[in-house]
Amino acid sequence: MSSFDIDLESKLHELQQAALEAFSTAANLAALDTLRVQFLGKRGQLTALLKGVGQLSAEQRPLFGKKVNTVKAVLATCLEQTQVLLHQKEEEAAIQAQRVDVTLEGRSQYVGQMHPLQIGLDEISGIFASMGFEIAHGPEIEDEFHNFDALNIPPEHPARAMHDTFFVKSDEKRVLRTHTSPVQIRSMLAGEPPLAIVAPGRVYRCDYDVTHSPMFHQVEVFLVDKDVNMAQLKGVLSQFLSIFFGKKVPLRMRPSYFPFTEPSAEVDIGCVFCDGKGCRVCKDTGWLEVLGSGMIHPNVLRSADIDPEVYSGFAFGLGVERMVMLKYGIPDLRLFFENDVRFLQEVGR
Ligand code: DAH
Repeated sequence: MSSFDIDLESKLHELQQAALEAFSTAANLAALDTLRVQFLGKRGQLTALLKGVGQLSAEQRPLFGKKVNTVKAVLATCLEQTQVLLHQKEEEAAIQAQRVDVTLEGRSQYVGQMHPLQIGLDEISGIFASMGFEIAHGPEIEDEFHNFDALNIPPEHPARAMHDTFFVKSDEKRVLRTHTSPVQIRSMLAGEPPLAIVAPGRVYRCDYDVTHSPMFHQVEVFLVDKDVNMAQLKGVLSQFLSIFFGKKVPLRMRPSYFPFTEPSAEVDIGCVFCDGKGCRVCKDTGWLEVLGSGMIHPNVLRSADIDPEVYSGFAFGLGVERMVMLKYGIPDLRLFFENDVRFLQEVGR
């Protein structure tokens, strides 16, 4: 070969080296493709070199052509391998970028639940329903007849005063019911004895301090039939209290006064915190006052068109807040109404 040929050949060799070097250090597929065009494209360096072929002799041309083909094949192989490598690299980078961090704490689902007082209301009503009492509801906006008169509460009774009762402004005869006892009257007027009713619901009194809320909850329970007596009242109460507190609780009845019962009794239970030994909650008496009860006053039966000579009945009313506080050891009434979810989720778990 002439010196010119050697020159051409060494240029070819240089080109191969440069291309191999460039391909193998390409940063990514796009850069590699630019290099491909640069070295092997129609207007690339190899094509430019091929232009010199015209100056070669007839025997040298095919030899040079062969060499060029070899270089092309070498470069094509290198290009292909690099492509595969870069493709893999890019895929891995994409997977890394989209990787899910399984060590991250999950976002827990927030599951709601009943308010502790609703849980208590349902629990209490459910126990009486299981004993055969029928669940009844009355209106929260009551009239004075059902809330007071028919319950033998005379007009001069202090419970009627503005101090305790919310009167409806537009209608002097209407009040926010101050207790669930009016459901006694409504049920008796609507039905015939025997009547065994449990009436849960909201009641209202103009009272607000550490132990009183202007809205609170009561459950009224009563039975009207022939020959109803106080022993039955005590039996139903002790059965209910044992189921509700999940243990046998001692019970005592103290004489008391309510306009709608005669005789009337205040019911105490053995302190559920100290089992009657005496503690802060029961003020060292061993007893907790939980509800009012008695035999339905003849005047009440008469107001509801029931003959007291034929029928008698017992009744009691309990405060739901107090019962739930005692059962779950809740120290402060206000917790029920502050809507702190940490508290609300504790009861009934
Ligand atoms: N209604 C009474 C109150 O709200 C509670 C009560 C006491 C209901 C004695 C009764 C009962 O049925 O017999 O304070």
